[in-house]
Amino acid sequence: MTHLSNAAQQFQESAIRRSGILGAAVPGLISLAAGYPAPEVFPWDDLQSITADLLARREGNTLQYGATRGYRPLIEQLLGKTLKDRGISGTFEDVIITTGSQQGLDLVGRVLIDPGDVVLVELPTYSGAIAAFHNLQAQFAGVPQDAEGIDLAALEAAIAGVRAKGQTTRFVYVTPNFQNPAGLLMSRARRLALLDTARRHDLVIVEDDPYGSIYFEDTTTADDTRPIKADDTDERVVYLGSFSKVLVPGLRVAWMVAPREIAAKVELAKQAADICSSVFDQRIVHGAMDRDVVERIAPSLRAHYQAKRTVMEQAIQSTLAGRVTWTSPRGGFFLWIELPAGVDDRALFDRALKERVSFVLGSSFFVDSGGHQFARLSFSGISHEQIAEGITRLAAAIHSHG
Ligand SMILES: Cc1ncc(COP(=O)(O)O)c(C=O)c1O
Repeated sequence: MTHLSNAAQQFQESAIRRSGILGAAVPGLISLAAGYPAPEVFPWDDLQSITADLLARREGNTLQYGATRGYRPLIEQLLGKTLKDRGISGTFEDVIITTGSQQGLDLVGRVLIDPGDVVLVELPTYSGAIAAFHNLQAQFAGVPQDAEGIDLAALEAAIAGVRAKGQTTRFVYVTPNFQNPAGLLMSRARRLALLDTARRHDLVIVEDDPYGSIYFEDTTTADDTRPIKADDTDERVVYLGSFSKVLVPGLRVAWMVAPREIAAKVELAKQAADICSSVFDQRIVHGAMDRDVVERIAPSLRAHYQAKRTVMEQAIQSTLAGRVTWTSPRGGFFLWIELPAGVDDRALFDRALKERVSFVLGSSFFVDSGGHQFARLSFSGISHEQIAEGITRLAAAIHSHG
């Protein structure tokens, strides 16, 4: 007999990690699966000197347990600069530093989900959010997107459907800026209309925004990425931001801005989870903010990823024109392709491994067992040459389907 809880028996493996594990067994594989930032744009010299300075000062607090809520000077920097620049106002009590936004998703889930509750999500949606909420025994209602973002008529229908069944739904989870996986940018009108829908149905919006600063300047400006939270006048948006894509992911420093009632409970959940996020890591990030490192490298990050996006699109144009379709991403790390009719993501994945290339199955991002006609291709962490060669190999796998 198993000793595992019912919840643990249902835990899901991350689809992205799984693609990585399968791929790791293939020598010479090019991974279009891992959505990692590019190490060549990490601010190595700044981080080296900030870290050396911190350790040279030998302040016990640098390597000590810290406040659960986070390192106060970092929270103050966020409030005074990053959040202000994004149009978000708040106070110290509204902000919590988390160990990556992934922890933020888990903690907010702990505060907003009872077993059996329904979480409203976009179709497709970030697989890490599916995993976090699923592990808390949530169920899901998937809501399709159009070119402007989440389809609000479909959202209304989903809410009505859930409530007609006597189930509870407390929040809708969205990634308005360059969504992982579909790369879509939600229009400003749709953001405001979503807020209105949430108000009418008294729902919380969990807004996940790790990619907002990585917009491509050929088509997009910072104004296009204004968070929903910036227009949250009645305390219903939980906003998640992260240093993973704009500084480095390895420090695992992210933050949440939440309505006071939710923030207070998230703090308690975090106390039980890890007492506090790494103080050393938070102090390094604080040092980087102090030296304006994030601001300084932002234009080069945008240019770096935009160039890679273009290389991937050109490679697809020249090898798969007319066979796959996609919406050109205006920021972020991903290109989301619709496969030729009759090509299933699982069958294609097996063929792709034979060609020594991997991607993430489109279906990993769906909560309704659909999505097998899609694949997520990541251009962020590999070189231009690897992108071009990876697409050539993927094209061979697709063409071998006939
Ligand atoms: C949409 C989305 N949310 C959250 C995360 C987790 O990011 P972090 O590194 O801050 O935990 C990711 C990482 O890829 C992501 O794509």
